[in-house]
Amino acid sequence: MKIIRAKDYNDMSRKAANIISAQVILKPDSVLGLATGSSPIGIYEQLIKWYNKGDVDFGACTTFNLDEYRGLTADHDQSYHYFMHKNFFGRVNVPKERINLPDGAQMDAEKECQRYDTAIRAAGGIDLQLLGMGLNGHIGFNEPAEYFSKGTHCVDLTESTIEANKRFFASADDVPRQAYTMGVQTIMLARRIVIVVSGENKAEVVREAFFGPVTPRVPASILQLHTDVSVVADEAALSLCGDLVP
Ligand code: GLP
Repeated sequence: MKIIRAKDYNDMSRKAANIISAQVILKPDSVLGLATGSSPIGIYEQLIKWYNKGDVDFGACTTFNLDEYRGLTADHDQSYHYFMHKNFFGRVNVPKERINLPDGAQMDAEKECQRYDTAIRAAGGIDLQLLGMGLNGHIGFNEPAEYFSKGTHCVDLTESTIEANKRFFASADDVPRQAYTMGVQTIMLARRIVIVVSGENKAEVVREAFFGPVTPRVPASILQLHTDVSVVADEAALSLCGDLVP
């Protein structure tokens, strides 16, 4: 596990965007696993700038997003479909037919999760997976649990996640209670992982996830066992790691 120290959110975003653009330049037909939340927005901004300058081209890429709220249609302004279109896909050239997200409008969970896993396999698996991390150590929507999850599945969101995500909705009551998410195994099968973490409110979970025991109670802790993980974190997020990080 490589820990890359960044000064602040902007520096973190630029450093992570560098890794992603290098991946796409070296392998133009990369399969990218993408994430939502506030953590990756700066990365998308940076990648869009480089795309506009002609430095990086997404025309041969395929993408798979980590997750989507169950029950929200693609045009709902809080759906991850909408988020990705607004913050990235609508502004770069990933071909529409190669953009994949779980379909929140498909209420048959088993059918949708199987479809998604089959599509990831058919694309040859994920070359680089971008991740953020929730306050309780969740990745995608894999919440703290007794076991690590496997493939794409439907989850009940925890109160802490509903609370954290309500800022994007009119009220906590409007936050969907369930989501489709890639499983921990799906994430671990990615050949390369980049996880970005910013801010003092994540400092405690950063220490637990990357320097504590590997446990499904802190889902991101399993990344310690992956052979190619870069944690790009800012000073504030690393503030409780003391001498653990050079
Ligand atoms: C959501 C997403 C996660 C994301 C997390 C953290 O729950 N499903 O993929 O990592 O939020 O979000 P933020 O980056 O806004 O802190």
